[in-house]
Amino acid sequence: MALRKILVLNGPNLNLLGTRQPEIYGRDTLDDIAARLTAQGEALGLAVECRQTNHEGVLVDWLHQAKREGVHAVLLNAGAYTHTSIALLDAILATELKVIEVHLSDPETREPFRHLSYVGMAAVACVKGLGAKSYEVALERAAAL
Ligand code: DQA
Repeated sequence: MALRKILVLNGPNLNLLGTRQPEIYGRDTLDDIAARLTAQGEALGLAVECRQTNHEGVLVDWLHQAKREGVHAVLLNAGAYTHTSIALLDAILATELKVIEVHLSDPETREPFRHLSYVGMAAVACVKGLGAKSYEVALERAAAL
């Protein structure tokens, strides 16, 4: 039987993890996180694919593609687009994908402009504030969906 596929989508500036404000986001790079998720996915019987883009429309395109390909669930750290993107909210609603919102930090304990999450209006769950571990906890949640 084909493995269930989990897509891990990362938005703007997350390519800089490792050196980007490590006091907030930690020292792990996105490659470190992707390697751990791939291994964790194998143990859970999931095929994990990780991607990153700095472009909002590319995230929208990837959600559409995920729907066409029948992915089981999406882990989405949309970075700052979390707080601004009605287009991402609409894409999640239109595709009816099971999206788990992920954040390394806890945006709700930070500046007020980070408290609103458009992604959260359509996500089935949110894992935040655990640093890189947020992704691993989110993958466990995705396996149970
Ligand atoms: C983030 C939180 C967002 O507010 C911020 O814009 C990011 C990263 C996080 O993972 O903690 O780029 O999504």
